[in-house]
Amino acid sequence: MNTLMRLSPQLHHWRTYCIKQCAAAGTEAAARGKPNYEEFIDSRQQQAQRSIVVQVSSEKSYNELYNYCSRFGRIVTVQHYSVQHEDELHYMLLEYASAGEASAAISSSAYNAELSGSGVPVRSPFLWFRAPTGGAGRRGQAKLAANQKTLALHTVNGTRSLSHEALKELLRGAAGIDQQLNLLYEQTRLNELGVRMRFIAALQVEQAISGMFPDALAQPFGSSVNGFGKMGCDLDLILRFDGKTPGTDQDSQREASRLIYHTKENLSNGRSQTQRQMECIGDMLHLFLPGVCHVRRILQARVPIIKYHHEHLDLEIDLSMSNLTGFFMSELLYMFGEMDPRVRPLTFCVRRWAQSCGLTNPSPGRWITNFSLTCLVMFFLQQMRQPILPSIGAMVKAANTADIRVTEDGINCTFARDMERVRFQSRNTSSLSELLLQFFEFYSQFDFHNRAISLNEGRALAKPDHSAMYIVNPLEQLLNVSKNVSLEECERLRIEVRNAAWMLESEVENATLSESERREQSWGLLNLFKHPEKSVIRPNMFFKPRMVEVSDLFDKSQTSAPTPPPVNYKNST
Ligand code: GTP
Ligand code: MG
Repeated sequence: MNTLMRLSPQLHHWRTYCIKQCAAAGTEAAARGKPNYEEFIDSRQQQAQRSIVVQVSSEKSYNELYNYCSRFGRIVTVQHYSVQHEDELHYMLLEYASAGEASAAISSSAYNAELSGSGVPVRSPFLWFRAPTGGAGRRGQAKLAANQKTLALHTVNGTRSLSHEALKELLRGAAGIDQQLNLLYEQTRLNELGVRMRFIAALQVEQAISGMFPDALAQPFGSSVNGFGKMGCDLDLILRFDGKTPGTDQDSQREASRLIYHTKENLSNGRSQTQRQMECIGDMLHLFLPGVCHVRRILQARVPIIKYHHEHLDLEIDLSMSNLTGFFMSELLYMFGEMDPRVRPLTFCVRRWAQSCGLTNPSPGRWITNFSLTCLVMFFLQQMRQPILPSIGAMVKAANTADIRVTEDGINCTFARDMERVRFQSRNTSSLSELLLQFFEFYSQFDFHNRAISLNEGRALAKPDHSAMYIVNPLEQLLNVSKNVSLEECERLRIEVRNAAWMLESEVENATLSESERREQSWGLLNLFKHPEKSVIRPNMFFKPRMVEVSDLFDKSQTSAPTPPPVNYKNST
């Protein structure tokens, strides 16, 4: 049973607790001192090496498991989570004080084809805790009674996002729209367990191939690490065979070595070589790695990927081998999120709003992606009269030699990693709800027809081609991040931002509801998220937009005209 299910009868108390947590979070973060992206990634990778995931029959196994596993070292945290399969499956994520202790626990494990469901003996951090046998079992139980000192067990919702009903209840109880925005962020973002699980998934891949590729690195990127991920988001992984070496002391010693590894020469061109390697890695994951299932190969895409599901972590994973710019782009987004506490809550709200009105869609197509939407938010925060974020150009200018990063294919990802050097201080004091309204107003008047969005410059540029929406790719400036967006989808975005601006404005004006009225009815953000979790599944091909007429419902030449009442395009066809 997860935390949410357990607490649902006491939602009111829970809501009060969440509101307090939320208020405390800002002050805590300020006191903590923020790690930079590389420190954050590094500490999470080390934490994964100190961790094991043990399947148990239920949370009642905790004391026994704790006592048993304590023989390998000092356990510092234990989190219990469950995954809904045919039955509910229970897991304990144990963190030891050191990687050696976790490794000792793994090395002590036995193979048992009957219990683990496979005859292939593979070493991984995913283990089973079997029932005690005979006298040893009884002795184990007796010892347990005398030694009840365990850590407090936390049952955590590790995989599932808050249900719409629970979120609705929570947002209704907020004191105002600003608090709703903060609550939405705090309660739907990827939690601590979610982050740990993603780094363990990466480590499993890395360890599995470490015999042949001791320098292999499976590097998480995307929303799992950039601070914009929500519960249940996918894990994006880049696998590099030589990832651990560059930049280390060992690397410079090796550079000088007169002994050189013999290697296989490339069989064909780089791209098909990568595709063959990925195919092979995909087969290996599929055949040997515990938990890995539903492996799919998408090798013809611009960035070839292997997709799979991890059943012990209830996680979707996209593995690529040639997308290092994605990793550095995640670093940029991480830094933007760290620069101002309003950036992430605002982005979460915009992403949720876009999902609720069907502007984004889990399957790729002609619609805007979460990544492009995030770029729209970042750009909005850069171009303000009192900017909240600096341009990427300013970050590049402030870079020093320690910041130089160039990918294998020569893409320059150099920008200052230390914000002190960028010397950017925002004087903007707008509240979150004011920013949200300004965001909708800004894009309802943005000239997508003629202007391109440049996060590098922090201002709009003349559009270099006829794409419906043009967002300059920050790290490969000749590319358009939103090239996939069709004219109809761009128009739909304009209509929806107008509707949202109108709606939010009236919500702000009507902010006079009594506390009991607020509890009874939808207000504030809830009126923006009218179609919860709706994913409009549209056919990828021959999609005939429903709203051809809608683009004519307002005069496009008057982009600065007052915001019209919402257009209900759904009923207009
Ligand atoms: P969700 O998976 O929807 O939660 O968001 P995400 O940010 O992880 O997006 P996605 O999985 O589609 O992409 C993963 C990461 O790849 C993004 O965070 C970016 O860092 C990067 N990325 C995605 N699309 C592009 C693109 O068009 N250009 C560049 N440079 N990077 C991209
Ligand atoms: Mg992702």
